[in-house]
Amino acid sequence: MDVQKVIDQLGGRHALQSLLGVGPSAISNYITRGCFPRRVQSIIDTALQDTPHHNQLHNPNANSTSSTTLTPPRIIHPTHGKRIALIIGGGIAAYKALELTRRLQDHGFHITGIMTKSAQQFITPLSLSALSGEKVYTDLFSLTDEAEMGHIRLARETDLVLVVPATANLMARAANGIADDLASTILLATTAPVMMAPAMNPAMWSHPATQDNLARLQSRGVHIIGPDSGDTACGEDGEGRLTSPQDIVAHVRARLEPDRSSLALSGKHALVTSGPTIEPIDSVRFIANHSSGKQGHAIAAALASHGATVTLVNGPVTIDPPTGVKLVSVETAQEMHDACMAALPADIAVCAAAVADWRAQAPKNHKIKKQAADSMTLNLVKNPDILAALGTHEQRPTLLVGFAAETENLEANAQQKRIAKNCDWIIGNLVAVSSGTNTSDNLVFGHDKNTIMLVRDGTSEAWPKMRKTEIADKLVAAMIMTLNETVADKEPANV
Ligand SMILES: Cc1cc2nc3c(=O)[nH]c(=O)nc-3n(C[C@H](O)[C@H](O)[C@H](O)COP(=O)(O)O)c2cc1C
Repeated sequence: MDVQKVIDQLGGRHALQSLLGVGPSAISNYITRGCFPRRVQSIIDTALQDTPHHNQLHNPNANSTSSTTLTPPRIIHPTHGKRIALIIGGGIAAYKALELTRRLQDHGFHITGIMTKSAQQFITPLSLSALSGEKVYTDLFSLTDEAEMGHIRLARETDLVLVVPATANLMARAANGIADDLASTILLATTAPVMMAPAMNPAMWSHPATQDNLARLQSRGVHIIGPDSGDTACGEDGEGRLTSPQDIVAHVRARLEPDRSSLALSGKHALVTSGPTIEPIDSVRFIANHSSGKQGHAIAAALASHGATVTLVNGPVTIDPPTGVKLVSVETAQEMHDACMAALPADIAVCAAAVADWRAQAPKNHKIKKQAADSMTLNLVKNPDILAALGTHEQRPTLLVGFAAETENLEANAQQKRIAKNCDWIIGNLVAVSSGTNTSDNLVFGHDKNTIMLVRDGTSEAWPKMRKTEIADKLVAAMIMTLNETVADKEPANV
């Protein structure tokens, strides 16, 4: 069996790791041995067939009362199979290449890390390898590396060479054709497009030598991303700061993704709500919840990466918005409701925000003074129900998805909510019952992983624990299938 071919077919090492729930070393072992262990073979066989998930997820005969544990649909990313050789230079911003690696992988890119000697003063090859799930290359004269993946192959078998951070030194060497280590040799030997994100002290950046090198590189077609202006790591203010990882991802996607009009959700509008809402009590206090927005933001990003025009209505969160979405920031449930109604019509709506059910009846515009009494009463009134409003709206989205965080009877409560709100799917989360006021044992809010139950008309599927970004990808894959079926149902039969 050609193990590498199977891995490629299933979306690369990272995708296989999540499918099998194993670490990077297990995948390396399969490649070395040239076969998969018997216990994972059946999972691989199933994933290799084209339609099993379709059957599992859309079985019209499924028993409405039974819930099953299923392998969620396989992710087919628009960037499927695209390889990036990521060269990390020896600058203080090298650590940001780690986050960048994660973000690029979230979009389905396959990352091969190459680090200069100086880069290893800032981050270790081990941390990059652990993140990328791949071997990291550092040495031009390594017999083992040369036998396994020679420097010319590293330079050629890639769709893009990306340099982050591009140091003044690395830019100077590339501009002058110097090939005195693995990174600079790859830059000279590659025939793939090259992108560089420079990061350095403002004086180094504005130095005529660096500016000359920059002009030379640009004249040869090297795409330069940034740098940004502002406070640099060395404490000086000016131009030279590394562009944010999400902006670098946006540049890479613009270069490597296929024509967006050919993507599965091109021409569709998706509305996503995310994060908490906050309801003022007075000018300094509010009612809120623990929602981080990670799951909703990941769904918005996944929808956008499949070509949808996305409106993301988010409550106050501390995470960055995904690239390529229209962001509407709100605070209260009423504002979120109004923003959602204003965003209609939409083909898909995913209500992932944790909206406060109640708000203070009469919030004060000054700070309420501490009272002498031992208790006080706060009158609450109901907030608008955004999911129900979308479910009964004359412009009801074709696919309406709600979330339900429950502490018990997840399946039954989620089904009930689905029917009551007239929505198509409910994503159920079992949130832990915390002891007292300690919320640290909460299994969902703020965490990077999630365990969900997808409740649809007649079926309930318990998905295994996964990263929220993977859940988002798999949910969007299922949404694409459902929308395609809806279109097929509406088309007249071919007689
Ligand atoms: C603490 C520290 C931080 C540095 N940060 C940067 C930087 O942000 N950008 C840069 O161009 N050089 C920076 N340098 C200098 C580079 O490390 C040096 O020029 C090195 O030769 C670059 O090697 P490379 O380009 O092969 O990785 C820094 C040096 C030190 C000691």
